[in-house]
Amino acid sequence: MTEHALAVLSRFGELLSGVAEPREIARELARAAVDHLGARAAMVLGIDDGGNSRILAAKNLPIDIPGFPGEADALTPELGDELLARCAGRPDCTACEGAHTIVVPLASGGGLFGSVIYVFGSEAQLGEFEHGFAKALAGLAASGLNCAARYTELSKSYAELRASRDVLARSQKLRALGEMAAGVSHDLKNILNPLALHLQFLQRAVPRDNGDALESVVEMRRVLQRGLETIERLRDFSRQAPAGRVEVIDLNRIAHEAIEICRPRTRTKHDVHYTLVESFGQPPPVTLQASEAVAAVVNLIVNAVDAMPTGGHVTVTTGGNAEGNAFLEVADDGPGMPPDIEARVFEPFFTTKGQEGTGLGLAMVYAFVQRHRGRIGLQTAPGRGASFTLTFPAEGRPSLF
Ligand SMILES: Nc1ncnc2c1ncn2[C@@H]1O[C@H](COP(=O)(O)OP(=O)(O)O)[C@@H](O)[C@H]1O
Ligand SMILES: [Mg+2]
Repeated sequence: MTEHALAVLSRFGELLSGVAEPREIARELARAAVDHLGARAAMVLGIDDGGNSRILAAKNLPIDIPGFPGEADALTPELGDELLARCAGRPDCTACEGAHTIVVPLASGGGLFGSVIYVFGSEAQLGEFEHGFAKALAGLAASGLNCAARYTELSKSYAELRASRDVLARSQKLRALGEMAAGVSHDLKNILNPLALHLQFLQRAVPRDNGDALESVVEMRRVLQRGLETIERLRDFSRQAPAGRVEVIDLNRIAHEAIEICRPRTRTKHDVHYTLVESFGQPPPVTLQASEAVAAVVNLIVNAVDAMPTGGHVTVTTGGNAEGNAFLEVADDGPGMPPDIEARVFEPFFTTKGQEGTGLGLAMVYAFVQRHRGRIGLQTAPGRGASFTLTFPAEGRPSLF
């Protein structure tokens, strides 16, 4: 018998080493109790995050018993009698009649994970050996539960660590690019501004009757102007500090202004219909630089419209979230993005619009949100539209970044 018990315990230990799910561990324990310990039935109770106990697994017993196990601190030996009393007379329970129980807590590494109730028939001979065996089974299961809990904790911290590393890497990249953009745009501006003056001079100097030359100079001035505008955008992007005064504002006002600015772009043309939907809630006041905030929302709406050349809906939603912070969401029902594009949209100069795009819109939105201690989220899938959510801490709340 001793040898058999050792073999069972060793097999049970091996089995648990490959299992990370508390319910599965509980099922294996209940099964081992009946198959190897000679119990008529067994029930495993666990303690949930709220500190309440609940049934994790049962063998030869009903899995739901109204009012059982009741209070969290009820993980006591009386629990066994309580179980027998509750099951008495239930047609779906044949194990409890004339039975008695042993309750063993599932404790390991300083943590209490629940308990196991072994139900034995009156004929069972329960000596020291059986008690030892019952405790050993419970001990092995408890250390399995302990490992499972540690594993869950570890994977959670690892995911958090990975997320903050990504944010850090992204903001370092943004800062480096911002500094580079500031330097380049400064130098370019110094070179191109005199050129603009020379061209102006040249235009005046070209004889009026030389149409071709005049046209060419006008075109050169136009090209140069576009270049200067691009430099201006680069400078905007590279600004790492808020450009103007921050103030306590209402996100609804920002959203409304941005929508009005975008209206002309969304006028119906040649059978292409855009619907701009305002779905405003009551966001708590936030501290932002207003013109930057409007520019950010305009960027999001323009991207949504660009993504839907055959028309569609753009919905701007605002409100307060569960944590009491303010959010603004711009959602479209366009083509959405595959994961490889989704992962890159906030990178400066990333664009899928070729010559038409600068790839700076979302990088600027990202930098703006970060400067204002907020958070930006993107939800998208191919064919499922895209939805960008900006969240800002309500007045007096800690940074979300
Ligand atoms: N609402 C959207 N739906 C689909 N793709 C989008 C959306 N918004 C942004 N994108 C993708 O992100 C890229 C980067 O956007 P952005 O930084 O604003 O630069 P740009 O608009 O100049 O391309 C876009 O080229 C596009 O591929
Ligand atoms: Mg854009």
